[in-house]
Amino acid sequence: MLTDTRQARGVRRGPMLILAALMVQGAAVIHLTAVPMHWEEYVPFGLFFVAAAVSQTAFAAAAVAAPSRRLLLLGAAGNLAIVWLYVVSRTIGVPVGPRPWAPEAVGLPDVVCTGLEVIASILLTVRALRPPRRRHPVTIAVATVPVAILVAALTTAGSGAAIEHMPYAFNPGPPTAGRPSTTVDLLTSPPGDQPVRSFTLTARVARIDGQAAWTYDGTVPGPELRVTQGDRLRVTLVNHLPVSTTIHWHGVPDLPNAEDGVAGITQQAVAPGHSMVYEFVAAEPGTYWYHSHQDTGTQLSRGLFGALVVEPRSGAPEARDYAVVLHSPLAGAGVAINGSAGDLRLPADPGDTVRLRLVNAVVPGMDGTPEAPVLLGTPYRVVALDGRDLHGPQELGPERLPMGMGQRVDLVFTMPAGHAVRLVDTEEHGATTAVSQAFAAGQHPRFGTVTIGAGTAPSERDPAGLPVFDLTAYGMPAPDPVAAGPFDLSAPVVLSEHPGFHDGTIQLVHTINGQAAPAVPAITVREGQLVHLHIVNETGEYHPMHLHGHTMSVLARAGRPLQGSPVHLDTVLVGPHETWDVAFLADNPGIWMLHCHVLLHASMGMMMTIDYAGVTTPYTMGSGSGNVPE
Ligand code: C2O
Ligand code: CU
Repeated sequence: MLTDTRQARGVRRGPMLILAALMVQGAAVIHLTAVPMHWEEYVPFGLFFVAAAVSQTAFAAAAVAAPSRRLLLLGAAGNLAIVWLYVVSRTIGVPVGPRPWAPEAVGLPDVVCTGLEVIASILLTVRALRPPRRRHPVTIAVATVPVAILVAALTTAGSGAAIEHMPYAFNPGPPTAGRPSTTVDLLTSPPGDQPVRSFTLTARVARIDGQAAWTYDGTVPGPELRVTQGDRLRVTLVNHLPVSTTIHWHGVPDLPNAEDGVAGITQQAVAPGHSMVYEFVAAEPGTYWYHSHQDTGTQLSRGLFGALVVEPRSGAPEARDYAVVLHSPLAGAGVAINGSAGDLRLPADPGDTVRLRLVNAVVPGMDGTPEAPVLLGTPYRVVALDGRDLHGPQELGPERLPMGMGQRVDLVFTMPAGHAVRLVDTEEHGATTAVSQAFAAGQHPRFGTVTIGAGTAPSERDPAGLPVFDLTAYGMPAPDPVAAGPFDLSAPVVLSEHPGFHDGTIQLVHTINGQAAPAVPAITVREGQLVHLHIVNETGEYHPMHLHGHTMSVLARAGRPLQGSPVHLDTVLVGPHETWDVAFLADNPGIWMLHCHVLLHASMGMMMTIDYAGVTTPYTMGSGSGNVPE
């Protein structure tokens, strides 16, 4: 009798029901871990996630303790209602909240959670309508245990990703109560009577090589900005892109913090249809470049970069002066130069002095492999690195010049009589063998070249096999007050990686001092301090580490002090398992990024800030702020 009533009103448990309850419980756990993020976004959203987690937990318990047909059908309907809400919020958006009717981004937790809920609903419905068949316990175990383990693993992945979400609005420099502070907005160029050079850069979509490129003024690279030392640049960024954007002036010494162009730190990203004026004095001659610093990995890859050349006040000393930007082509693999994937021709006459200003804007692969261009056909001097002159540079035979992304090298040579000179690019490492073979076979399939002057260009059977330039033993020693110390502050910068959760997903997390951005503790400095950075690369990748707003003096590589000229960089290429010591004078107040210029690494966490005590920012980064610096 009793059994009959049970059969009529209740449901026998069986493994399918247990698994369904486990899935609902997994979804509840993920909902719970997502509460803080949604609470920050909009309190009612946070409350909704609490309610979802609580009711799913209650349901899972009841379904196991006292399953009935009604309960199971109710549970299936409830879970499907949550899924429906998800689909709406991810496609057309919900009418309430900070951004009504704006679809939310889909993350790993959403996918896992929705998947568990859909499958659970199906299982619950089946179980409500059909009693389980009797099966041998071993069969049950074989069928159930792997699924249970999978559900547990998915729950761990979904909730781990939800905990390590990109913050909704992270402020890298919040004010401290009771402490005097300056906002980054006030850190602009003081007025002056320098000659003003005005430019307008219109960020817009342009069709290039069959691709919808994102460009400055319709070209990739953007227009070369060439000014004279002491000029005041006034650059208007007009945004006609479908997304918000900024301009960062990479490497410009003493750039005021408010002009640094980092979305979420020094400014709000410029929205489509809006514009912004950047203004700064080009105090030091040299080779620099500019690029977007909003969603940088994407925007730079799509074409938003260009060269900035500051000529000395006395005029360019060489007869020919060319900026040569190495970059990824818009379509296909390889390296293009100034927009050309083939052989770029530059005029020069025999006897002319020629300066080539190389800029490496090539987006490298996961290993961050640097480019290594080499000049063939005449000896040359490396006169500047990252726009800063070297002391007493000697003539070199053909040597490959390793360039991490973001770095610049200035070469000077005298044009020989009777034949041309050619710049070919190789990679320092990795693709070397393939590159050598390709050259040996008479093809230049991957890399654009530059041929300077008339006549036949020199050929080299194996450019990728040529020796590699060493910046730690080149030129003549000279005093360097920054390198001499003593240092007021010494900070480690340990670069590492591990698979894990970051930014709401599972990735190869790239850390500095054990943390991934934005959780990496800032290095706090005071104006006037001499700061020493001890950079340790624990990975097998290359990390060109770029410091905004300052010039680093190289002290040592692998503990071995510099042998030749002082070397001043804004981007130091830290090779696999290398250690570098650098120092800088904290003479430019602000909140300044220090990050790997392999933008993939930066977006996976390898970025931090150097904060001047007392400087704050009103801007935030994260999913709710519209600012994504990397
Ligand atoms: Cu060239 Cu922070 O970048
Ligand atoms: Cu890196």
